[in-house]
Amino acid sequence: MRKKKVTKIGVLTSGGDAPGMNAAVRAVVRTGIYHGLEVYGIMRGYQGLIEDDIFKMESRSVANIIQRGGTILKTARCPEFLHKAGRKKAYDNLKKRGINGLVIIGGDGSFRGAVQFSSEFDIPCIGLAGTIDKDIYGTDFTIGFDTAVNTAVDAIDKIRDTMDAHDRVFIIEVMGRDAGYIALHSGIATGAENILIPERKTDMKNVIKSLREKEKRRKLVNLIVVAEGDDFGGADEVQKLLSKQLPKAEIRVCILGHIQRGGAPTCMDRLIASRMGYHAVECLLEGRYNVFAGILNNKMHYIPLEQAVKNKGKISDEWMKIVKILAS
Ligand code: F6P
Repeated sequence: MRKKKVTKIGVLTSGGDAPGMNAAVRAVVRTGIYHGLEVYGIMRGYQGLIEDDIFKMESRSVANIIQRGGTILKTARCPEFLHKAGRKKAYDNLKKRGINGLVIIGGDGSFRGAVQFSSEFDIPCIGLAGTIDKDIYGTDFTIGFDTAVNTAVDAIDKIRDTMDAHDRVFIIEVMGRDAGYIALHSGIATGAENILIPERKTDMKNVIKSLREKEKRRKLVNLIVVAEGDDFGGADEVQKLLSKQLPKAEIRVCILGHIQRGGAPTCMDRLIASRMGYHAVECLLEGRYNVFAGILNNKMHYIPLEQAVKNKGKISDEWMKIVKILAS
């Protein structure tokens, strides 16, 4: 499998930041140096690659960052990289430094960029799934998801206290773009009565019926967790809809927003980021190119980036059944 020898590697973080990205950068840098590679940090994702914002990293460059949220390399969404001219500039900047391997830490948009880039230019790319959304096919974990879900759970637990004290309906919107993993996991963990996710159709008539019954019993306290990408269009839209049907109910909305992206990564995120970062460098050394390093059933798996961007993860029906039974 070994192809051209990789001697100098670049690492970047791209798309929405995710807690644990720093731990992944640290692992890539230190594993690279351990193997005698030169390691370069690229600022602001593909943007820095195009603008030649690249610097050599040493082991000390990544000291004291494993516990920090955000990313020391900064991140960006880069429209210029969608065009061949932008990607050519990026390649020229790598070429002039002799960088012959790239580690991209980001979500599916970043992976799409990597697929395009590696198909046009002779630069092996390794992806690390860094996204709070967990919407990457072929891995049980993505860097940042565990932290984001724990942040959401902590916030929802607090909201539940006040919701319960007032007998209110609370609709809480969580992130996830067009995926419902954060809503599903945080909703189950906080005992939400309803969880609305884009992957499943919600029977709103049923939700309203159960709220009416509770109202009759003067026990209208209900927690609804909504994924931002749900078909109903987020928490505000759900509130409008429910308010029309239950004019007397006190319905409040809380949109958790970017708080879910920040904060110190959990132990779990630090561990998976370290493990994935280490394996990304091993992939480059072994000539296992244009894959992403995912974890399935606690084993490393190397999934072609092309396959990852063509497929979507699936939410199991078992989880949906559990939600239904436990919330009744
Ligand atoms: O992909 C991570 C994510 O936080 C999504 O959950 C959300 O839809 C999006 O990024 C928000 O992006 P931005 O920070 O650019 O507004």
